[in-house]
Amino acid sequence: MKGLILSGGKGTRLRPLTYTRAKQLIPIANKPNLYYVVEDLVRAGVTDIGVIISPDTGDEVKAALGDGGRFGARFSFILQPQPLGLAHAVKVAREYLGDDPFVMYLGDNLLSGGIAHLVAEYRRTMPHALVLLTPVDDPRQFGVAVLDGAGRVVRLVEKPAVPPSELALVGVYLFSPAVHDVIAGLRPGRRGEYEITDAIQGLIDRGGRVTAHQVRGWWKDTGKPEDLLEANRLVLSQLTRRLEGEVTASEVAGEVVLEAGATVSRSVIRGPVHVARGAVVEESYLGPYTAVGPGARVIRSEVEYSIVLGEAELCDLPYRLDASVIGQGVAVRGQANGPRRHTLQLVLGDRSVVRL
Ligand code: G1P
Repeated sequence: MKGLILSGGKGTRLRPLTYTRAKQLIPIANKPNLYYVVEDLVRAGVTDIGVIISPDTGDEVKAALGDGGRFGARFSFILQPQPLGLAHAVKVAREYLGDDPFVMYLGDNLLSGGIAHLVAEYRRTMPHALVLLTPVDDPRQFGVAVLDGAGRVVRLVEKPAVPPSELALVGVYLFSPAVHDVIAGLRPGRRGEYEITDAIQGLIDRGGRVTAHQVRGWWKDTGKPEDLLEANRLVLSQLTRRLEGEVTASEVAGEVVLEAGATVSRSVIRGPVHVARGAVVEESYLGPYTAVGPGARVIRSEVEYSIVLGEAELCDLPYRLDASVIGQGVAVRGQANGPRRHTLQLVLGDRSVVRL
């Protein structure tokens, strides 16, 4: 079985962060979303992996993944010249996929329960497609599935105005090579894209067997800043305390990871918090669900439930930063000894500068 990771797209819902970075490379608990996806595939025994890249961010994705050696995988990079949809990505990968069954995994999805059990079930039952579903509050934002009494998928609709069920399609799909025939005859859907949802419906229309599995644990599609923060929270809640950096005159409580080369002085950290190598935390407070990237500096500031990317600097903030995403190398500076106010929420793209 081959893997197909989708790591193209424009990430418009994550601007400004995605002006300078592929959305799949935004770190969740200090690790790019894409790495979790690769590791999940490898754990499931899928090591021959095609990675769909776009002209805009392809080089960055290639550089971040390498040849696959360090993940125990082998990558083939496949260029999708235009973002014409998930089924179009499969079409572009037709030659790479050959006649093997494959698991397609969206590079901005995160699953706590992993996919090993799905791959095992697929191998045992060999359906035409196996999809992963989960109940959601607003199914209009997703592909939606309808099941029959025996749990088989009978109908699928992409982003329906009136959802026929609350079961959303999660971004992990297992396919037999039969899907290629359907995709070859597919027409673009309402949003002008070749929808994988329509391709699976096509399999059903041809009498194919499409089975479904409900997600174990949590699932996140990190398409919007609030989803990134929520994914960050979920991953951080699985953290185990590990202090390899240097701590002086500070209180570090709970599940906190301090990587080697990070320093914390005269500060309070309440986990779960992840502080990457080379980061500096001084006279500050880091509250639950915060990730501070490599080489970032938090000086005389308070940060909670936020993602701070590498090399960013938060200095003398008059507000407690909350629910914020601070891009690579951003500088947010207040005045030393300035007045303290309440909270501040920011989503800042790489290298922004803010003075308060
Ligand atoms: C895509 C699929 C949708 C699926 C979702 C899961 O949506 O088209 O069916 O539910 O991924 O993340 P998109 O992220 O392209 O809006």
